[in-house]
Amino acid sequence: MFSSNLLLHFLFQLFIIIHSRADLPGTWELLVANAGIASMHTAVTRFNTVVLLDRTHIGPTRKRLPKSHCRVDPNDPVHKQDCYAHSALLEPSTGKLRPLMILTDTWCSSGQFLADGTLLQTGGDGDGFKKVRKFTPCEAASFCDWEELEETELARGRWYSTNQILPDGSVIIVGGRAETSVEFFPSRHGNGAVKFPFLAEAKDTQMDNLYPYVHLLPNGHLFVFANNRAVLYDYTNDVVLKQYPELPGGPRNYPSAGSSAMLALTNDHSSATIVVCGGAQYGAFIERTTDSPAHGSCGRIEATRPDPVWEMEDMPFGRIMGDMVMLPTGEVLIINGAEAGSQGFEMASQPCLYPLLYRPDSPVGLRFMTLNPGSVPRMYHSTANLLPDGRVLIAGSNPHYFYKFNSEFPTELRIEAFSPEYLLPEKANLRPVIVELPENVSYGGGFDVVVTVELPVVGVVEINLASAPFATHSFSQGQRLVKLGVSSAIPAGSGFYRIACTAPPDGRVAPPGYYMVFAVNTGVPSVAKWVRLL
Ligand SMILES: *[C@@H]1O[C@H](CO)[C@@H](O)[C@H](O)[C@H]1NC(C)=O
Repeated sequence: MFSSNLLLHFLFQLFIIIHSRADLPGTWELLVANAGIASMHTAVTRFNTVVLLDRTHIGPTRKRLPKSHCRVDPNDPVHKQDCYAHSALLEPSTGKLRPLMILTDTWCSSGQFLADGTLLQTGGDGDGFKKVRKFTPCEAASFCDWEELEETELARGRWYSTNQILPDGSVIIVGGRAETSVEFFPSRHGNGAVKFPFLAEAKDTQMDNLYPYVHLLPNGHLFVFANNRAVLYDYTNDVVLKQYPELPGGPRNYPSAGSSAMLALTNDHSSATIVVCGGAQYGAFIERTTDSPAHGSCGRIEATRPDPVWEMEDMPFGRIMGDMVMLPTGEVLIINGAEAGSQGFEMASQPCLYPLLYRPDSPVGLRFMTLNPGSVPRMYHSTANLLPDGRVLIAGSNPHYFYKFNSEFPTELRIEAFSPEYLLPEKANLRPVIVELPENVSYGGGFDVVVTVELPVVGVVEINLASAPFATHSFSQGQRLVKLGVSSAIPAGSGFYRIACTAPPDGRVAPPGYYMVFAVNTGVPSVAKWVRLL
């Protein structure tokens, strides 16, 4: 059983222990020492604030609602009158936190930003099962809050489902626990759900089909991955167009805890590549074996090819509950999670403190780089989100049913930021600053971005659009990076450069909404400015 893979892994671990950790790239900082809530769901708004969201029926958190604000719910198992916050708005630049009021249970719910920048949030447990909520973000100094829709509800109760914004700005809501259908917001098909038998076929004795990985491909169809298989789904005509080959290495979705990302879309809009990484051993969940080693295999597939195949690769660590964050450069950060067990309450052990950088353009075998480890275990119910300043916000971790602090992996209230190597001070003179960018951009249109850089620019400055996904359960719903077609940087005097860009051709490549625009100069991203694509 002592395979060469294991031996390599062992030697690698030894190498890391012997080497000073400071040698590894990336830096950590504590952003908020006590956020008061453990964020199970996290999303960055176009006002550079962050929505933190836990669930309601969890008893006391460490943050109170404003004075005389309480939630009264006779069905709440813990508090009939609950004066604790279960959601909050964080301003990362100041560390300020404002409690938000959420009424119905958002446990294992899903979400997505709409075209107008409103966060749509659906489903959950108990009274949240069919609930539709909205959060319309505002300037950090204002007082926007959650709104729970009274007139509209989901056709089917859903938790553990996945939302994806579509080219026309509507949202598809896929699957859920004991729910093998899809539905739309706003509703289609006369308010009903549409059966999606693929999710039933992908189910096994421990489910493994929850929080499916849904990616909108630039051909307008959905790549939907559940368990160890995927289909190409034409949601408009409710037709499965293609069955992809099975991904070796066991189940990947909840509760087997892999992750997935679509690599950056480029100017070649006929191609999209999906990566699925890590996961638990089959049986770890159902047998509750918290020490069963996670696997470290990644599959990568060009989903738009006529006969695609999975290309396999091993990460330096086995990992469950890793979060895959698309960085502005097109590289993928894999962060958080554990090396053993599965996803669920008290189900994992051996936190994996080492982030990885996945460099998609490197040859197989050279794509992973191990980064500077953190010190805070980020287990079940932790999240990672790209911030507009290029850092990655790390929140949550609560493997317990309630808030619990006297355990090996306590409920985690600290919020950290991880800075990839591109933010090193030595690279500051390469870092572009966006000085001019339109407020709105229309599909297919040309527009100019003006940047300034300290050192003379050699070659191309990329202009990349990053969506703000809804991160939960080690998958970022709606995550997308689109690299625009750009001219070479045209010198415009005293360190200024003009870049002529072409907007994405249509909503299949980039659905309508607000995007972070990053200028990237030799791998160093600017601070993003937000643009509205319509
Ligand atoms: C951008 O688009 C919005 C929505 O259509 C509009 O209200 C706003 O005036 C536009 N801004 C500019 C500068 O054109």
